[in-house]
Amino acid sequence: MNLKENILYFLENNKGEYISGSDIAKKLNVSRTSIWKAINSLREDGYEIDSITNKGYSLSSNNFILSKHSILKYLNNKNVKIEVFDCIDSTNDYLRNKAECGEEEGYIVISQEQIKGKGRLGKTFYSPPKAGIYMSILLKPNIHAGKALYITTAAAVSVSQAIDSLTGKKSSIKWVNDIFLDNKKVCGILTEGSFDLEGGGMNYAILGIGLNLIIPNYGYPSELKNIAGSIFERDNLPYDYRNRIIGEIINNFFKYYTNLEDKIFLDEYRNKSFIINKDIFVLKGENTEKAIALDIDEEFRLKVKKENGEIVYLSSGDISIRKNY
Ligand code: BTN
Repeated sequence: MNLKENILYFLENNKGEYISGSDIAKKLNVSRTSIWKAINSLREDGYEIDSITNKGYSLSSNNFILSKHSILKYLNNKNVKIEVFDCIDSTNDYLRNKAECGEEEGYIVISQEQIKGKGRLGKTFYSPPKAGIYMSILLKPNIHAGKALYITTAAAVSVSQAIDSLTGKKSSIKWVNDIFLDNKKVCGILTEGSFDLEGGGMNYAILGIGLNLIIPNYGYPSELKNIAGSIFERDNLPYDYRNRIIGEIINNFFKYYTNLEDKIFLDEYRNKSFIINKDIFVLKGENTEKAIALDIDEEFRLKVKKENGEIVYLSSGDISIRKNY
């Protein structure tokens, strides 16, 4: 942890009390001037830190800092490895490097901003600061590569359920990996894998989840304005919403992941899917085809009927709704 993170951790642990600059300096083995500078920099970052002469500093009770310590409070399994960043290129890329160096399953990386956020099909994922959470989980599933879709779909149900529980609203899933709330996309999921070509299994998978928590200060860029929404409203934010939503997603996901092949989330995935019986466009590379979405099968493939009457099952690619959206 750097000095700012250490100070935040210290103030968070002593929330409601005033701690003198010299006590913090002693504890962290740095000068009082460094503490003063770091506190000012934290204030510039948006943290409300009260100070009273001769008493010291106190973290205002409105602050809910995104931190490993606070996330752990909400987790069923406290034994997980979590790293939290202010800013990173891409949490998926970071974890992929870790995985290649032999890091173990269950490592979770969370960032408040991404410079090179990645979306599906080679797209970028807009990841501005102070508005979202960008998270990746390293997994080593003991499944056949053909079942990799189970990971994304288990995650989609986990996110959707966490959103419902914190907002009291009903979010839904757009096959295969997008979560919608109030007709706007509020979460995207990207699962990347390394496959064992000989054995047919997976060496590892990186599950990446991007959550739009609140609308960024300056709104979304024009290309996203009609598509992207947010899970929460700025003037109605639930208590400690950032740490809580992460905690709920992780708890939900590992409940499903433990027995992934049992697919106990299949019914919920289907119930939450909003494209069944809709007229859609199937987008594959440069091609766009009209079709009707008929069902989601046992393998989470989308059963569609093309205009020529042919029935096909999609397990990847992208779709868009032809009417209403
Ligand atoms: C999509 O909507 O196309 C998927 C978006 C996935 C974004 C997440 S944010 C955390 C992780 N790191 C990335 O670079 N991408 C995923």
